[in-house]
Amino acid sequence: MDNRFASFIYQPMKPLGSDGTMLTASSRHIRISHDAALSGMVLLKNEKKVLPLKKKSMVALFGKTQYDTIKGGGGSGDVTCAYSRNINEGMKLMERQGLLTLYSPLADFYKGYFAQATPGDHGTKEADVPADLVKRAAKDCDVAVITIGRFSWEGGDRREYEFSLSVGEESMIARVCEYFENVVVVLNVVGPITTGWIADNEKIKGALMAWCGGMEGGAAVAELLCGIVNPSGHLTDTLARDYMDYPGADTFNESKDYANYTEDIFVGYRYFETIPGAAEKVVYPFGYGLSYTTFDIKEQKCWTEAAKAKKGVASLSAEAENGLTIHLNLEVKNTGRMAGRQVVQVYLNAPAVKLTRASRELVAFKKTKLLKPGEKELIAFDIDLRAAAAFDDIGAVKMSARVLEAGEYRLFYGSSVRDTEVAKTVFVLDNDLAVEQLSSKVAPTALSKRMLADGSYVELEPGNNPDSPCTTEMEGWTLPQHGLLTHDMLNEMRLDDARRRTQFGEDPESRQRPDFMKVAEGKMSIEEFVGRLPIEVLIEMLGGQPNTGVADTFGMGNFMEYNIPNVMTTDGPAGVRIRPERGMNTTAFPSATLLACSWDPDILSAVGFAAGMETKENHMGMWLAPGMNIHRNPLCGRNFEYYSEDPLLTGLMATAMVTGIQQSGTSACIKHFCCNNKEEDRMRCDARVSERALRDIYLKGFEICIKNAHPWSLMTCYNRVNGLYPSENRELLQGILRDEWGYDGMVTTDWLNRVSQVNEIKAGNDLKMPAGEPERVLKAVESGELSRSQIEACAVRILKTILRMGGYEIKK
Ligand code: BGC
Repeated sequence: MDNRFASFIYQPMKPLGSDGTMLTASSRHIRISHDAALSGMVLLKNEKKVLPLKKKSMVALFGKTQYDTIKGGGGSGDVTCAYSRNINEGMKLMERQGLLTLYSPLADFYKGYFAQATPGDHGTKEADVPADLVKRAAKDCDVAVITIGRFSWEGGDRREYEFSLSVGEESMIARVCEYFENVVVVLNVVGPITTGWIADNEKIKGALMAWCGGMEGGAAVAELLCGIVNPSGHLTDTLARDYMDYPGADTFNESKDYANYTEDIFVGYRYFETIPGAAEKVVYPFGYGLSYTTFDIKEQKCWTEAAKAKKGVASLSAEAENGLTIHLNLEVKNTGRMAGRQVVQVYLNAPAVKLTRASRELVAFKKTKLLKPGEKELIAFDIDLRAAAAFDDIGAVKMSARVLEAGEYRLFYGSSVRDTEVAKTVFVLDNDLAVEQLSSKVAPTALSKRMLADGSYVELEPGNNPDSPCTTEMEGWTLPQHGLLTHDMLNEMRLDDARRRTQFGEDPESRQRPDFMKVAEGKMSIEEFVGRLPIEVLIEMLGGQPNTGVADTFGMGNFMEYNIPNVMTTDGPAGVRIRPERGMNTTAFPSATLLACSWDPDILSAVGFAAGMETKENHMGMWLAPGMNIHRNPLCGRNFEYYSEDPLLTGLMATAMVTGIQQSGTSACIKHFCCNNKEEDRMRCDARVSERALRDIYLKGFEICIKNAHPWSLMTCYNRVNGLYPSENRELLQGILRDEWGYDGMVTTDWLNRVSQVNEIKAGNDLKMPAGEPERVLKAVESGELSRSQIEACAVRILKTILRMGGYEIKK
């Protein structure tokens, strides 16, 4: 019999490479990681052509990060891999190719430093490089390269001082700049840090934002510095001068219980490009990135099919077919001397009379192919303005509808949010328009004010429910002294259950049991199958199941007496995370932020497909990735797992990633739904946010991804949103996710959250990980608080996901 679940059940040794070799951590996958790293690092500064480094230069490498290179962030987003190439090793590879020589006395100095310091601590304390060594190096070398690192991990946020330079870093930079005329800086960081010192210092002629490049990050840095590959990454976040320049910075961690999103829709560049006085706080704007070549972007045509432009003005029309779609054709030419790729971005400026709007909103982008010097590429955009409609949560145009206001719509195109030209045609909408009528959901109850486009705030009527009394926590939930229950403790509990259960596999009545394989083969409907399962089995299935094989984040299903396999999950999003003691290395890909800075969906799909295959090859069914929360604040400890401050870019990058993952037959699991924008106190902190900001900023990426890529699974977050935990919020899970967006996948909690499973089942959160609360749920069924059909609905969605992960088609 063709049992496609065999891999999950028997875990055969079966490499999945087309040539019969293993794909996991294969050179092919490491190459994908390497290429991805090259495509997302961003050249920030290049004066007097300091980069690429001249052939045969003598290079002085400063900074402990050249050895202590950070491949990615920590926590569940970490990856166990065979090696991680540091920047020094990357530069040495260049040396071996005869491209440069490294100044060796510095290597001796750092060797001495690391004899005392802890390698791999990724802290901000810098080695105190003696002035006379710097002076000697400057005499012998053509250029100094300074590396600076920043690390963060799940469960905590970076501190404000980590945004700035440490005293040790400042003194190293000052010394190097005192003696060297040509200085290049490499930022190997999990998130934005201060960059004003780079822009302002004439000695610092070059800078590369290298983010965290995965296991091949050090090699990618070196290849870009040497010009083996031309940098083509562009920023997906604004780099502001100081931490306090970011909107909401002052209140980011003001309370353990709440975070007030008072900046409203003015997140990232929406704030810096709109609010008076904010623009000058920007050092490197959103979308920015240099290349070793130059490009020219020219408008060819800008039009709608519905109306001809007269004197540069054209009408928009809701009635005409495609009357709200603007076509923009651009020609991009490589005007320099080296082959390169350009990221072309299109921003909208929409009327903002009755509703606030940011003065620039990204509405489309495209990365060119590799253009040879002199080569041109035509780029055609079709921009449907309905996708840019704003959610009206004040009834200014139409209450709870997505609206476009009457007035002038302008497009700006270019290579960053600042470096743009305005398209020649202005598009005019005569009347206000509601493009989609929705209803009020997940409204704030305790947000006291929100920002307007002039930087002032409008006071809001406080709701009458500031402390979210509906929330119920798990029975007996206590945070252990060290912070979290360990996965091992839970695994032991789950194993006991499993041992108990397998004993009734020999029950003589087993032949009458419904057989899940019949559902898989299309001979029985999933509803009929579920209808025949005992309630205890159904309830058990709504909780996580014990680990098997190399898995360490638990599974689902696990009723072999009904032929339901136990299908494992595994962490992401920077690669398949298998804990070191399991003895299996995988490929460590670059951080999500770096991937997004490639602005190249193909790269994300390739990474997604490769990681999906590694998941599968290791007998697991679901990769807990991608993370797709918005970079609301640069200090969020998990920003490295997320893409951008912009929702469209986030949504399209996640779309590409999910598509790649699921093409491999593995389930993606988009996370953390939603507003997991800070890690400190994440188990209880309440994100207080307007409906407008929720829908236009924080949910938008999820909506785009779900509508385009149809992920099979989604993870709710730990934190609360407007009073309730998302895993217990029916308005969010049923109302928005399923009814409005048509999501047909499964919903899981985040691991070890503290919400009552009874509430979660009512809301439509299907699976509780890594373990459910079966006794409590059974009691709720017996008392009539929960119905069997509510339990069945969740079980059906879990089983559908298991079928999908097995490669079986879902019958509608
Ligand atoms: C994280 C999730 C992760 C899960 C399983 C949680 O702590 O928030 O992103 O997938 O653990 O390890």
